[in-house]
Amino acid sequence: MAARGVGLLTRLPLCVQRSPVQRPVHRLLSYPGTVAADLRREEQPAGSAETGSEDRTPKKRFCEVQNERREQAQRTVLIHCPSKISEKRFLKYLSQHGPINNHFFYESFGLYAVVEFHQKESVASLQSVTRTPSLGAEAAIPFRSRYFSLKLKNPSNQTSGQPSVQCSNQSSPASRKLFDLLCCAENVDDQLNTLTKELQLTEENTRLRHLTCSLIEDVAAAYFPDCAIRPFGSSVNSFGKLGCDLDMFLDLDDIGKFSAHKASGNFLMEFQVKNVPSERIASQKILSVIGECLDHFGPGCVGVQKILNARCPLVRFSHQASGFQCDLTTNNRKIGDRLEAQFRLLCRVVGLDAYSPDRFWIALRSSELLYIYGALDSRVRALVFTVRCWARAHSLTSSIPGAWITNFSLTIMVIFFLQRRSPPILPTLDYLKTLADAEDKCIIEGHNCTFVRDLNKIKPSGNTETLELLLKEFFEYFGNFAFNKNSINIRQGKEQNKPESSPLHIQNPFETSLNISKNVSQSQLQKFIDLARESAWILHQEDKGHPSPSGNQPWGLAALLLPSVANGVSLAKKKKPASERIKNLLESIKSGPENSTNTNGKRAASPQS
Ligand code: GTP
Ligand code: MG
Repeated sequence: MAARGVGLLTRLPLCVQRSPVQRPVHRLLSYPGTVAADLRREEQPAGSAETGSEDRTPKKRFCEVQNERREQAQRTVLIHCPSKISEKRFLKYLSQHGPINNHFFYESFGLYAVVEFHQKESVASLQSVTRTPSLGAEAAIPFRSRYFSLKLKNPSNQTSGQPSVQCSNQSSPASRKLFDLLCCAENVDDQLNTLTKELQLTEENTRLRHLTCSLIEDVAAAYFPDCAIRPFGSSVNSFGKLGCDLDMFLDLDDIGKFSAHKASGNFLMEFQVKNVPSERIASQKILSVIGECLDHFGPGCVGVQKILNARCPLVRFSHQASGFQCDLTTNNRKIGDRLEAQFRLLCRVVGLDAYSPDRFWIALRSSELLYIYGALDSRVRALVFTVRCWARAHSLTSSIPGAWITNFSLTIMVIFFLQRRSPPILPTLDYLKTLADAEDKCIIEGHNCTFVRDLNKIKPSGNTETLELLLKEFFEYFGNFAFNKNSINIRQGKEQNKPESSPLHIQNPFETSLNISKNVSQSQLQKFIDLARESAWILHQEDKGHPSPSGNQPWGLAALLLPSVANGVSLAKKKKPASERIKNLLESIKSGPENSTNTNGKRAASPQS
């Protein structure tokens, strides 16, 4: 059982005895909301994050958070700085252009500063005194962005004796450090909360993600002045891990809305436009030109790849200064395209998750739904982070597309599992629909994407199960799930008969005829099942009281993240029950110093995760 009300810091001295690793004290939680809300959460004792009913602070709607972040990013600049700089002088120099709300430094092949002004005008003022560099033999493309480079006029005078500025960390902790932190945690619940805190996006990283979108928007605005670049996926759904990709889409719909608003009187004015045969081709052309633009003029955008013939055309690139791997897609909504409709119908008949210009609105809606689920109960994020991390550690997921399960699918599986608890920890999507009012109504391309947007209308769960129990039960539940006949469905929160024969069937929450895990092969699913059973078994062994946090062997979550003894072996082919098989395997390797396990089912202490 988790001990409640024990703060992280009070436990530090104990940890230090076992390990030299210190827990970072100043880490901000980047849970969706304001900085102030983040600080409030950080001040809570770690134990209070164990059940969902403790936090009564009114929670912001997804769109409020996104609009605030977008507006904040528009007042923000990115500056490449000299490696040694006086923070005080730097801020004084920039304050000439207006008051500064917030700033931080980080390192990524050089020192960078993110500076948020109080007013947008300050950015224009700074741009007005900024020059385009002369590069000697090379020529510069004079693009006036919000990404600057600060040079010292007299380096020797200004850098001598300067202390280094304090940098915010933008990457996840080294596996060794994470492993040590897990080993010196107090109990399994504490381990899950620690893992979440260490891996989740920080406040600074979230700001940097929104700033990157805003900088890309400046480039796209050269062609489409009223466009918006909107982040979606794990950067905004509250399940993002430091280092995750930045999914963004170029939203051109605002342009349409703007012109519709202006139409009045007896006449209707339309822009003269070029027509192309389909929406898909229009998106390909738009992305192609934006890709070229990013490649040629986008400061800091490198490795631009135009992947236009994929099912969902996209432009992939690295934003060097922030270190983000970015995927840019677009929508270009124009109803009534016959060819397009026929193509989509055909795809639906064969069960393909087809290209659709509205798909990104649905993806944004999925991001909002996950954000709501993540905010309802603090156990949700802890379990999702843990399951994602566990899956990554055992190569069940990969950054390369293939027959493996995705993080999105794993998240839906955790949500489904939490809907199945008694009493349920999470409500079904159908229930969230019943709480919706008129302004929540949302139909996209015939799909009902309606659910309540105001989190405060959803009653917290009365379930008080610990994270330790939930993790064990998650592995048991999916280790024994009838994947051969049942489908996972968070809309109804019930197992349902599979409508088709894919090994794993997870119903797309909004496009309900689609399976989000159609790509998963039988062997990948079997690997997931075997690892889930093995992990349940390890946690059960620990339940019997064998291991304890006081020993110096990996235990609890730390043991689950170690390479499986069964990795690389085709478990599906074995005849013995999983628990017996794993027990034997563990026994057989326990004598080797590198691969040693103890008799309590603990794995070898060489973290790879
Ligand atoms: P990371 O692995 O951390 O990047 O998680 P992610 O949630 O961002 O996943 P990913 O980058 O693969 O996809 C971004 C978003 O696209 C997801 O959050 C979903 O909203 C949506 N998405 C991903 N996979 C699918 C899918 O198979 N079908 C549909 N309809 N949407 C998907
Ligand atoms: Mg992503």
